[in-house]
Amino acid sequence: MQPRSYHILTFGCQMNVHDSGWLGAALEARGFVPAALEDAEVVVINTCSVREKPEQKVMSALGRVRQATGGDGRVLVAVAGCVAQQLGAELFDRSPQVRLVAGSDGITDAPGAIERLLTEPEARLTLCAFTETFSEKEAAPRRSAGPSALLTIMQGCDNFCAYCIVPFTRGRQKSRNAGAILEECRQRIAEGAREITLLGQNVNAYGQDKTGDGTSFSRLLEQVATLPGLARLRYVTPHPKDMGPEDVAAFGSLPALCPRLHLPLQAGSDAVLARMRRRYDSAGFLRLVEDLRAARPDIALSTDLIVGFPGETESDFQATLDMMEACGFMSSFSFCYSDRPGAAAARFPDKVAPEVQHERLLRLQALQDRLGQRWLDARVGQATTLLIEGKSPRQEATPADAPGCARAVPHEDWQGRDPYGVPVHVALPEGSDHTGRLVAVDIVAAKRHSLVGRPVPASR
Ligand code: SAH
Ligand code: SF4
Ligand code: F3S
Repeated sequence: MQPRSYHILTFGCQMNVHDSGWLGAALEARGFVPAALEDAEVVVINTCSVREKPEQKVMSALGRVRQATGGDGRVLVAVAGCVAQQLGAELFDRSPQVRLVAGSDGITDAPGAIERLLTEPEARLTLCAFTETFSEKEAAPRRSAGPSALLTIMQGCDNFCAYCIVPFTRGRQKSRNAGAILEECRQRIAEGAREITLLGQNVNAYGQDKTGDGTSFSRLLEQVATLPGLARLRYVTPHPKDMGPEDVAAFGSLPALCPRLHLPLQAGSDAVLARMRRRYDSAGFLRLVEDLRAARPDIALSTDLIVGFPGETESDFQATLDMMEACGFMSSFSFCYSDRPGAAAARFPDKVAPEVQHERLLRLQALQDRLGQRWLDARVGQATTLLIEGKSPRQEATPADAPGCARAVPHEDWQGRDPYGVPVHVALPEGSDHTGRLVAVDIVAAKRHSLVGRPVPASR
């Protein structure tokens, strides 16, 4: 075991990815270093409860930790995130090796709690109270920050969609102060970020809660989009019912705002949407898609879909497939409905049998594969710009994809993302670090989930 070292295992959404990144940076600011699971003195499991068997996943991760550390009692094991929020001190009974339980807001105080527990080997702590206002985390510089940064603008959710556990695990919606958001954006840009993704469970409702400072989401977007040095801006997740005309218009008026929107539909049938308490119908969603395309004709849409919600009939499910076709989603995350404790739908009758759910999921995913491939194929021949993220893990771009065949400089494979968020492989000159550069390319081929680009010759 290496003293003052840490390892974080992360499950769940980008909020958790971001929280884990922050926790690592905050520990590093206190002199900790990252280490392999087997060597770490502090192990944190950052957990998610949104879908099936979250508690089992945590218990099996704890089993892995116990095995890797050989049950060394000196290793400090912490559980953070949404399962920690749900189970609280119960986790101490389920797994005696756990000494810190830090929920959604409590994670803010985890670095200090970890320091304290290292000096008090017999102590245990729970940090599971919800705070009244957005719980501002200490600033922590990111040493190994890439060109893309995640940034939280709100915590929690007030929507209570009938299937969802998030309002229970993340608490009520709390907007972060706009000044603090802009300050963190500037810090990330100074560290090398060229792209920022704003995070929240319902970002368009930003500012519309009692802890907001009066700034609306569209105003915030405008302020972030115009920060010097920022090339690209994205956000996730919007709720269709809260996408106002200003949010739609922003796609036409803010050049930094990428033409890609993850817009969760969940289901195509109006009866199912009503039971899900989504508060929009299929016609409203289609109108929104039309407005977005009018504001930004090349906008690419992706979505989340649930199959087998209680009472979903074959024709309800067909309506979901029809909506997918009508919206032409470039990609989607799709899930079988599962009961979440406390969420209203857990008490709904007419549960759909698991085998029916799985059969529908496969049909939905087959359609998505076709829609996704159609979208990717249509990109071939288009000119675009990549934000280079690093060397490509695979050799996808061939030397012939580099401009000019008889080149003096050898090329190697790099990977970037286009404004639609799609990974693109490109051959770039060997011998320099292209990370964070914006490179103009022509798309020359479509793979299954990625594209191949060729740098545009300087003369063009
Ligand atoms: N705030 C976001 C994301 C919430 S959780 C939003 O409103 O879209 C991410 C996704 O998990 C949801 O969009 C939904 O598709 C899925 N999900 C949530 N609860 C679920 C459940 N009980 N069963 C299956 N999928 C679920
Ligand atoms: Fe869950 Fe609905 Fe809130 Fe999204 S908007 S987090 S699905 S309750
Ligand atoms: Fe999971 Fe919590 Fe995110 S339940 S999806 S980690 S908000």
